[in-house]
Amino acid sequence: MPTDPMGAFTMESPLIQGAYMAAALLFILGISRLARVRSARQGNRIAALAMFLAVVATTIALWGDAERETLWATLAGGVVLGALIGIVLAKRVAMTAMPELVALFNGLGGAASMLVAWAELERARAEWASAPRGADGLVVSEGAFGLGTVNLATLQGPLFAVAAVLSILIGAVTLSGSLVAYGKLAGKIRGSRLGPLGIRPLNAVLLAVALAAAWTVGFGMAGNPEAVEWAVYALVALTLLLGVGLVVPIGGADMPVVISLLNSYSGLAACATGFVLQNNLLIVAGSLVGASGLILTRIMCRAMNRSLANVLFAGIDAGADAGDQEYTGVKSTSAAELAMVLDAAQSVIFVPGYGLAVAQAQHKVQELATMLEARGCEVRYAIHPVAGRMPGHMNVLLAEANVPYERLFELDEINGDFKNTDVTIVVGANDVCNPAAYEEGSAIAGMPVLDVWDSRTVVVVKRSLSPGYAGIKNALFERDNALMLFEDAKAAIEETAGELGEL
Ligand code: TAP
Repeated sequence: MPTDPMGAFTMESPLIQGAYMAAALLFILGISRLARVRSARQGNRIAALAMFLAVVATTIALWGDAERETLWATLAGGVVLGALIGIVLAKRVAMTAMPELVALFNGLGGAASMLVAWAELERARAEWASAPRGADGLVVSEGAFGLGTVNLATLQGPLFAVAAVLSILIGAVTLSGSLVAYGKLAGKIRGSRLGPLGIRPLNAVLLAVALAAAWTVGFGMAGNPEAVEWAVYALVALTLLLGVGLVVPIGGADMPVVISLLNSYSGLAACATGFVLQNNLLIVAGSLVGASGLILTRIMCRAMNRSLANVLFAGIDAGADAGDQEYTGVKSTSAAELAMVLDAAQSVIFVPGYGLAVAQAQHKVQELATMLEARGCEVRYAIHPVAGRMPGHMNVLLAEANVPYERLFELDEINGDFKNTDVTIVVGANDVCNPAAYEEGSAIAGMPVLDVWDSRTVVVVKRSLSPGYAGIKNALFERDNALMLFEDAKAAIEETAGELGEL
């Protein structure tokens, strides 16, 4: 019996591996619950529980490992500090700034993978450097493949070498790419270049030299650990520059897609680190993040009718006709007039967009909807898959205002119903209901849109005729059956509800 009961639990012990297995299953259960709005909160809690279990099991395993006992204080400090930062950020972040926060989280995930792999690489290199040297000064030691002049792959096994360099490569690209994505979303980085970074042929050169450095680290420089040290520095520096170069030329409107892709990269980097540490849970969790990020990226690209290659390589505002914004025959309306139109309506569809999030108008919309329903009017919400600035943006806001899930309809479910609808109220949405999507050559050609103009009357609530994220004119505003209510969404809906109450 060990005197220290914790000492009985090593990383390989059945209890720790069992806890890892349970955590992996909980992660999978959590992700599956995230697929439905109704169970998403529960899914999040289950995933948090899985992470808690993983941290506790790892801490106990490290405690039992005499070599790493000193890590215990570092680990506890990291958990406490990380949790505090996480709580403060989560409490303070505005709903509209959520994509920026996700970008930062991805970047930190990439950084963690990169640093862990780098540290393991250094540990292996130090071991290698202290091995006996032959007459020629080269290190000869007994590696995985027997005695001889060794490199990292022969000393630690090729899987370690490949996983370590991949982890640094993907982790560093994720870190610097995510920081640029954050800067672009927050409006701190504009334009398609940072110095020479962003020039596409330069990216190809950076990637080629980074791969050469990666090869040198893992497989080159047999017997010469000192030379490998410089190759590791070069690999880290080159891949950090590559991350900037890859993301900076991409336009702000495409950043949510890029963030989803970087999320996937952070998972792949974690998975590679799992192989470096031989940690099964990290391999499973990293694969889950990698795969789900890739699926989300695909869904978003499909909803915008763009290929991933087009998002990544088409450059800023490709095809946008931002100069041509002249409107004729636009009719404006007032809250009082809208209330009268609604008074006679039997069916109403709300189309929420980014402006609803900016104005935080979801509660007022819900109040107006309740008033309409009390008058016997059928009220529904049409949710476009990329309305707002992140996947599920509108669902989250409307759920926050207690709008029943049964009232929310996806594009495919509701698009055919606009023609049977009396009034459609577009609240701070623009691109997602732009008929230009049906015109060849338009910047959003082929993107599925909500055919709001098919309803008897369509009222667009926004502050001006300014374009949406795609930066293009919206001919919906000129349609005969369209009325513009130029006001902040929250104020406009509140006034309309007030006027309706008087009727
Ligand atoms: P947008 O096309 O960006 O239009 C939002 C409109 O809201 C603007 O025209 C703006 O007009 C209005 N607005 C802003 N603040 C307002 C306020 N306080 N009150 C009332 N209106 C306000 O938004 P959308 O229709 O939701 O489309 C989303 C866009 O983001 C699409 O182009 C989509 O491709 C892109 N995008 C989204 C995602 C995801 S996953 N959601 C991912 C990638 C790209 P005013 O300034 O005149 O008020």
